[in-house]
Amino acid sequence: MELAINPLTPGFAAEATGVDLQSGAGDNLTAAIRQAWLDAGGLLVVRDQNLTTERHIEFSKHFGPLFGDPATEPLQETVSIYIHPDHPEIYRVSNQVEADGKPKGRKGAGTYWHSDVSFRERPAGASILVAKQLPDVGGDTIFCDQTQAYAALSDAMKEMLVPLSAVHDFEVAARTQYAQPIVVEDDMSGANMAVHPIVRTHAETGRKSLFVNPGFTSHIEGFDDDESAAILGFLYEHCTRPQFLYRHRWQDHDMVIWDNRSLMHFAVMDYPDDLPRYMERTTIIGDRPT
Ligand code: SIN
Repeated sequence: MELAINPLTPGFAAEATGVDLQSGAGDNLTAAIRQAWLDAGGLLVVRDQNLTTERHIEFSKHFGPLFGDPATEPLQETVSIYIHPDHPEIYRVSNQVEADGKPKGRKGAGTYWHSDVSFRERPAGASILVAKQLPDVGGDTIFCDQTQAYAALSDAMKEMLVPLSAVHDFEVAARTQYAQPIVVEDDMSGANMAVHPIVRTHAETGRKSLFVNPGFTSHIEGFDDDESAAILGFLYEHCTRPQFLYRHRWQDHDMVIWDNRSLMHFAVMDYPDDLPRYMERTTIIGDRPT
C-alpha cells in the first residue's frame, strides 16, 4: 500500500489511506503527511491508525512542540485529571469513569465552536486526535474553515477587520459554553488570556483566516460591548455557513489532524453515557498569531 490522498470536501479536508504509522514512519513519509495536511487546507483524516499512545506522541512531535511535554513546557505543579496519568502530552476526552470513580477524560470537551487553546499567547497549531473507542452512531466532530470564510467577506468588511484585535479568555467557555458553568481547572493555570489579531496570516501557507471563536473570544478591543457582540455574532454566523463546514463521522482508529490556525471545531455530544467514546489528543504549541 502507498499513501493516497483524497479530498473529503472542497477547500480544506482530505483523507489519507495506505499508511501504518504504528510500524514506523520514516522522515519522508512523515513529511509527506504533514505536507498533505497543509495542502488539504488544514484537516487530514488518516484512516486505520491503531496507534499506541507513545507512538501517537512521537508522531505528533513532527508537527512542533507539544503542550504538556515536560521537555518543552515547565512542569505544572498540579496536573488536570483529564491529562493521561502516564503521558502529560495527552489530553483525554471521554464520557466514562474509571473503576475508582475518576473521569477517564473530559466529558463534553469541545461541545462548542472553538480553536484549541486560543487563550494562550501561543495558541495551538495542530491538534491530533485519535479515536480509541466510539459509539455506534453519534459523536461526530464538525469543522469550519475560517480561511474560506474570510475570503468570502466583502473588501469593505476585510478592511475594517484587519487592524482589529480580540481578547481570548478561557473563562468565556467556562461561563457560557457548558450546560453547568465549570470551575476553571488546574490545567488552565498560567496564562489564560491573550490578545490576538482578528485576521491572522498562516505562517506556512501565507493564507489569511479569521481568528475568533465563540468558545474563548470575549470581545474586540476598542469597541463597546454591544458593538463587539454584534460584529462577533455576524462573524460566527458567517463562518458556520454550510459551505465552510465538514462534519467528520468517526471510524475506528481514525487519526484526525486539524489546524487550529485556520479552523474551528465543535464536538457533537448526541450519544448517551452507555455508549462509550474515548479519544486521545496531542496539541501542538503554535506560533504567535500575526
Ligand atoms: C476537542 O478536542 O475539542 C474534542 C473533539 C472531539 O472529541 O471530537
